Amino acid sequence: MKTILVVGGAGYIGSHIVKMLLANNYQVVVLDNLSGGYRDAVLGGDFVFGDIADTKMLNYLFSGYNFDGVMHFASFIQVGESVINPSKYYQNNLTATLNLLDVMVAHQVNKFIFSSTAAIFGEPQYIPIDEKHSQQAINPYGFSKQIIEQVLADYELAYDLKSICLRYFNAAGADPDGQLGERHNPETHLIPLVLQAASGRREFITIYGQDYDTPDGSCIRDYIHINDLCQAHILGLEQLFAGGKSAVYNLGNGTGFSVKQVIEIAEKVTKKTIPITLGKRRAGDPSHLVADSKQAQSILNWQPQYADLETIIAHAWQWENNHFL
Ligand code: UFG
Repeated sequence: MKTILVVGGAGYIGSHIVKMLLANNYQVVVLDNLSGGYRDAVLGGDFVFGDIADTKMLNYLFSGYNFDGVMHFASFIQVGESVINPSKYYQNNLTATLNLLDVMVAHQVNKFIFSSTAAIFGEPQYIPIDEKHSQQAINPYGFSKQIIEQVLADYELAYDLKSICLRYFNAAGADPDGQLGERHNPETHLIPLVLQAASGRREFITIYGQDYDTPDGSCIRDYIHINDLCQAHILGLEQLFAGGKSAVYNLGNGTGFSVKQVIEIAEKVTKKTIPITLGKRRAGDPSHLVADSKQAQSILNWQPQYADLETIIAHAWQWENNHFL
């Protein structure tokens, strides 16, 4: 049985991956400082409270377990906040991640799955965005991820650290079994906010910008189900265990939905009228982000099971009802 360290395993994506790793017979150790995650979201494995900035603790942890691989989800993720407080993003997403990588190298753990993002591409030059698209992040969040991707390429050459970088487009939805879901505080993501407006936990949803160069003037995004995203992590890990090379993959469904379309589909799923207000553009939002994920499909044999946005929203709605109401 292989042992995987899941850093940030109490967060939204991390908690879903822990459940999937356990179902795939991996032994799991979660390391989380609970700054954004929840202890009760960790459904199994060992739990260690700690922060990857703490080298002493990391060395102790890596001496206590023989990790076969590491998955890293412990990042700050708010684009707007990263512009206002870049230090927070560079300290954690960059410096602390380097710390983790150096401890891995010191303990000869050489398989790493990294949560990267579509934000490394900046303003898209073309759509859909494939892996060859130029990388020009336009905010500290995206740039912190872009730098780590470069660090990983250098660490492979120098230290033989193998990695898979997965560039998420818009992770959404919830565990189809209803046990897990999204619990960001504050919540900034569109689908959970729309569903809060549907359930009455929020008065309305604000549409940020109506004058984008898109058919209905609102921003277009490519929403990917959390379980499909997690599946790609397991496939990436298996690729490394099979002796595969380091690689990068863009992960989305290849179909874009505007903010207004998301609200319409949410009204259909929830059978509620969702109150809206029209707001200004949010700083740093590209108009249109859609993934080309052919590489993940052909090389990792990744096949999304929940590509349909109605299903993604239905699972998020199940979570909103089960957990919050
Ligand atoms: N939006 C609204 N109203 C809201 C919230 C969001 O109109 O109340 C709009 C945004 O302007 C954007 C779209 O809904 O056009 C999606 O916004 P999210 O905040 O849900 O997601 P983002 O596309 O901004 O960001 C996500 C991740 C980031 C990652 C990025 C990369 O949260 O971490 O995808 O594509 F960097």
